[in-house]
Amino acid sequence: SAAEKDGHDWFMRKEIFEQPRAVADSLIGRRTAAGQLQLDEMRLADEELRDVDKIIIIACGTSFYAGMVAKYAIEHWTRTPVEVELASEFRYRDPIIDSTTLIVAISQSGETADTLQAIRHARSQRAKVLAICNTNGSSIPRESDAVIYTHAGPEIGVASTKGFLTQLVACYLLALYMAQVKGTRFGDEIDEIMEQLEAMPGHIETVLEGADAVYELARAHATTRSVLFLGRHAGYPVALEGALKLKELAYLHAEGFAAGELKHGPIALVEEGLPVLCVVPPKGRDSLHGKMLSGIQEVRARGARTICLAEAGDTSIEPYADDLIRLPKVPVLLQPLVAILPLQLFACELATALGHDVDQPRNLAKSVTVE
Ligand code: AGP
Repeated sequence: SAAEKDGHDWFMRKEIFEQPRAVADSLIGRRTAAGQLQLDEMRLADEELRDVDKIIIIACGTSFYAGMVAKYAIEHWTRTPVEVELASEFRYRDPIIDSTTLIVAISQSGETADTLQAIRHARSQRAKVLAICNTNGSSIPRESDAVIYTHAGPEIGVASTKGFLTQLVACYLLALYMAQVKGTRFGDEIDEIMEQLEAMPGHIETVLEGADAVYELARAHATTRSVLFLGRHAGYPVALEGALKLKELAYLHAEGFAAGELKHGPIALVEEGLPVLCVVPPKGRDSLHGKMLSGIQEVRARGARTICLAEAGDTSIEPYADDLIRLPKVPVLLQPLVAILPLQLFACELATALGHDVDQPRNLAKSVTVE
């Protein structure tokens, strides 16, 4: 009923607007009075974490894309090598794992068969498994050595939204906790990064306040046959996730690319009028901003219609954006928390305009309990 959906037409839309709270809840109680980061329910001793020399993240779908963002954060902040692998591929390639490997299994439902099988395989090779999960007492945390629970609350829409954002938060917390335990040079910056994280619910709110402009864009594109998504660095998984949302809900051909790969093939797809959604990295030291801009120029020169997501104050993007959606100024590693929001809104509204059932897309199940 409409009441269950808080007056929204879909659970998905309700869940999109719950994200400021979901992110805030996932951050509650993570710092001691003395400012130390704590992950109480995690049950992995600091010594065990210090011994970890390689992390392998396993997940499916949206959770896999959260894992891709996690790789950027964990490697940058902790200098521990991270691989990210689709759970359905992992155990079939004879992966190299032992007792110093930490497996991080990310799953909203905690019941995904591919992920569960991958965990069983990893544990049989003596690896430690840490689950990041939204569902208390589900199979994946029960079969893992440790767990970080996300606090999204129940997610009903088949397309994951608040599940994704809270997974990102859990991954950032894990990365920062490891930096604290390992004493990397980022150890001193944990406070500052935590403050930036704690400011995110407000930033998410700001982006959601601009929903109407995104809805209008989505409706204007309702008859398109294909949409491309471009990103770089932490914006690359955002592009992949934006494309997945559109496939799932609007049944459209949608593909995400790392913008640097364009010239290696995908640019051949660009033709007059093709909508291309571009996640522009924040400006700043070592930023890929300039490189992203040249990628955007290249697709536009070939007729693409560019919809750019760029931070407030970034005027250099203006000449190359047919449409511009503003994002708050946040550090590049945290940008996925705000950059994905317009893409969720876009897919939800476009599917609605096409008359699809957004909460129950064809051929899909909320949790995939068969391999
Ligand atoms: C996302 O919108 C999906 N419907 C799907 O890709 C999902 O993320 C995937 O099946 C993994 O589910 P899990 O997080 O519950 O393991």
